[in-house]
Amino acid sequence: MESVLDRIYRERERYGTSQVGAGKTVVIDYSSPNIAKPFHVGHLRSTIIGNSIRRLYEALGYRVVGINYLGDWGKQFGLLVYAFRRWGSERKLRENAIGHLVELYIQANREAEADPSIHEEARRIFAGMEAGDEKTLALWRRFRELSIEEARRVYARLGVSFDEYSGESCYQGKMEPVVQDLKKKGLLTVSEGAEVVDLSGDGLGVALIRKRDGATLYLTRDLAAARDRWERYHFDRLFYVVAADQTLHFKQLFRILALLGHEWADHCRHVEFGRVHGMSTRKGEAVFLDDLLNEGKARAFERMRENPEKFAEVDDPEATADVAGISAILFADLCNRRIKNYDFDWDRFLSFEGRTGIYLQNAHARVAGIIRKAGVELVEEVDVGQLSEPEMIELARLLLHYPDQVARAAEACEPSVIANYLLDVAGALHKAYHEDRVKGEARARAQARLRLFWSAQIVLASGMRLLGMTPMEKM
Ligand code: ARG
Repeated sequence: MESVLDRIYRERERYGTSQVGAGKTVVIDYSSPNIAKPFHVGHLRSTIIGNSIRRLYEALGYRVVGINYLGDWGKQFGLLVYAFRRWGSERKLRENAIGHLVELYIQANREAEADPSIHEEARRIFAGMEAGDEKTLALWRRFRELSIEEARRVYARLGVSFDEYSGESCYQGKMEPVVQDLKKKGLLTVSEGAEVVDLSGDGLGVALIRKRDGATLYLTRDLAAARDRWERYHFDRLFYVVAADQTLHFKQLFRILALLGHEWADHCRHVEFGRVHGMSTRKGEAVFLDDLLNEGKARAFERMRENPEKFAEVDDPEATADVAGISAILFADLCNRRIKNYDFDWDRFLSFEGRTGIYLQNAHARVAGIIRKAGVELVEEVDVGQLSEPEMIELARLLLHYPDQVARAAEACEPSVIANYLLDVAGALHKAYHEDRVKGEARARAQARLRLFWSAQIVLASGMRLLGMTPMEKM
């Protein structure tokens, strides 16, 4: 017990971190939404899980490169340009790019159903973009930049950032070497005019590389992108944090990279996750991340108003509600193994009881309060003999395991390891101060307890940050 308390005292916020990854690079592809299409649950999960994995690897001393690989190329941009020229508004684009583009995209699809010539026109526009039609490309570039700018603001609210905004468009014109390489290695065969790699021997079907009309595909771009990432970063690991629906795509991708003789193919890993059912806001099916966060905040705020006694100490109710709402969403996503599906349920996520982010925030704020009001100083030398109750010993034992949990969570790309561990710590804390208080105890005892609770707060706060949460001092 002495040693864990000493270690936390010495290392403070660094407790649980290490340098095992020093000199190594991890590239993480996460969030990766499609411009002009609604940001869906898969992108939300990728953002949350990817961000946590990023923090886990950073804690282990790795250099982490976060890439947002946007869906920013393809036929749909022909449609979007068409729609903008016809119904778009400069003002709306400047004020709310993502919303306006999604609105136009939906409208264009609707109109095209009645009038297929619109699709014809969209195809023509996109072909022009591929051929380098500068006027159209300039418009497309604006769509892309304004969308990124807006997305950045929302990501910031979630504490999420990227080192690079890349996207499928970056590999336009860079796929020829890949295709040539496949040819040279005898991997490419022609099937009904299209060029394919036959992976049926591996049970992975036939991978389409280039269509009959010469158009390349998502897979072709991912091949070029992976090689580009290797050339730039020489990564030790490359994680694709993408929904489990794309399992076949990534198996094909990794297999082809291996067939091409890239020895780094086995550094690549598809970090897959399950679905969420029933995610919606009061406005309807949630399509905008911002709306979702706003709703979490509004609902958390209502809760606070209903339970004023629980929030008596809060200084800034708005900011508290914002953090509480976000914590609820993050934790709900991260508390189960990522491959599991879950149901979106605001009432459950925002509950003070059970496995929730609010419960954790509450545990953290409570221990912070005890420390503030302890009435004794935090000191280096304490008499651990004073901590003989089984609850205290159990709590200290748990704290000792934190560094292992971080390493395990990182290795498995499984933030739920940390989430569950934190629930255990919060539970143990709860038991420990049920009877054993700090204030009013004899000095030696009070100091020993304070030191243990203070250590627990350090671990709770660090662990919450690994999940992307902002620990609150008061709640
Ligand atoms: N934009 C894609 C989608 O929404 C996800 C991209 C994931 N990353 C990748 N390198 N394929 O489905």
